[in-house]
Amino acid sequence: PLPPAFQVPLPLPAVLAPVSTAGGTDRYEITQREASAEILPGVKTPLWTYEGTFPGPTIESRRGRPITVTHRNELPVPTVVHLHGGHTPAASDGYPTDLVLPEGWHDAAMPTGHGSEHGSHGMHDPRAVVSKLTRDYTFPLDQRATLLWYHDHRMDFTAPAIWRGLAGLHIVRDDAEDNLGLPEGLRELPLMIADRAFAADGSLDYPALDPTLRERPGVHESYLAGVLGDVILVNGAPWPVHEVDTARYRLRILNASNARHYELEAVTDDGRRLDLVQIGADQGLLATPVTHRLLPIASAERYDVIVDFSGVPVGSRVRLINRLGSGRTRDVMAFRIARHATDDSRIPRTLSTDLPTWRRSDAVQVRDFSFRAGQMRGDHGWLIGGLPFDPARTDVTARLGDVEVWRLVADVHHPVHLHLVGFRVLSRSGRPPLPHDAGLKDTVSLRPGEAVEIITRFDGYRGRYLFHCHNAEHEDMAMMANLEII
Ligand code: C2O
Ligand code: CU
Repeated sequence: PLPPAFQVPLPLPAVLAPVSTAGGTDRYEITQREASAEILPGVKTPLWTYEGTFPGPTIESRRGRPITVTHRNELPVPTVVHLHGGHTPAASDGYPTDLVLPEGWHDAAMPTGHGSEHGSHGMHDPRAVVSKLTRDYTFPLDQRATLLWYHDHRMDFTAPAIWRGLAGLHIVRDDAEDNLGLPEGLRELPLMIADRAFAADGSLDYPALDPTLRERPGVHESYLAGVLGDVILVNGAPWPVHEVDTARYRLRILNASNARHYELEAVTDDGRRLDLVQIGADQGLLATPVTHRLLPIASAERYDVIVDFSGVPVGSRVRLINRLGSGRTRDVMAFRIARHATDDSRIPRTLSTDLPTWRRSDAVQVRDFSFRAGQMRGDHGWLIGGLPFDPARTDVTARLGDVEVWRLVADVHHPVHLHLVGFRVLSRSGRPPLPHDAGLKDTVSLRPGEAVEIITRFDGYRGRYLFHCHNAEHEDMAMMANLEII
């Protein structure tokens, strides 16, 4: 029962109210629970949710004002919460074995993982915190204003958990950005794009080997490259439409798809492509705007983009389409130009002046990592530097405050994400970065066969962090490694 495109109104996720703002900290509570929603007309889709909705509620915070989020797990499996792009102390970063256990979960039911060794570390790793029903995550949010997102990160089971609905947005704001005059209020739209597949009864279709997600991880063999859906959801609605004024809009786009990547275009009814003026990347504002006609976006990347609808006739539409899709996966959503309106927003030539300017000569380390398919104890795996993820092994030890250059080499397409820090893209296969590599990133899309150099400084906190492929199926098939900051 797939709906026609551009009929369902675009939902805007509710902004979560803090339960307390006392003592300089905002406190939030989120219950993870099963719920259902009418995503496709006439059928109910069972979901795993934060607070009963998919996407979960949006958290809005201010740069430098800490928050605590208490997560309560009422789902039938353990969960882990990670704030993607957060500059977060290790204890709250959602390490894949730092579980929030559901009621009545016994060690005997702990996941056994891929084969005997890989999945069982949660029990044997002495550093793993096996937790209880609730967990407090503390986020200092001492970082640039940007769009972050929170999602499940449980070892071996991240992909199906996100697929079932465990994802929500988090916007960090600050005064400098507020004062720029960018489109705001109803003219700022967070857009979480995610593809999903549905069974005839409305349930989400995911090729898990163990649909209970309790014991055996992994997907059926034909999905080793990643799981794609044939329905494109934006903020949880299929191919939605949103009514807009003849004015500039700020689109805060997140690709929350497990494995699908997109090349977005905004096309008018008469076939004109509108400018996508990029003002921000994963980790906040660019120095100056960058204009695109085509914007590639891989899993977990965010782009902050201004689109100007002022030259588009009232009554017509602008479709956001994915050039990499075919048939129905080519459509993403549409904007219907509903009314004439005034617009006093602007796009300043200078957006920010605080971007790090690390230079190659600042780096005290240059490291190489390959991201390739390989064998993992007889099974298909995705490996970093030839090795599958092992929580008990430290792959990289970096010193707090050090600048490093990492060279990331891919076989097929891999979006690579570092926890804790933002980085800048230095080069792609020896050539200068692409226009959409501008600014501070936390996820970089490695194209097939490419070698991408990034530069970062390991600032902020000591402890155990991760880097991994954010194709969520690759991640679950062990394309993840430990980064210890000392
Ligand atoms: Cu968005 Cu380690 O993840
Ligand atoms: Cu990958």
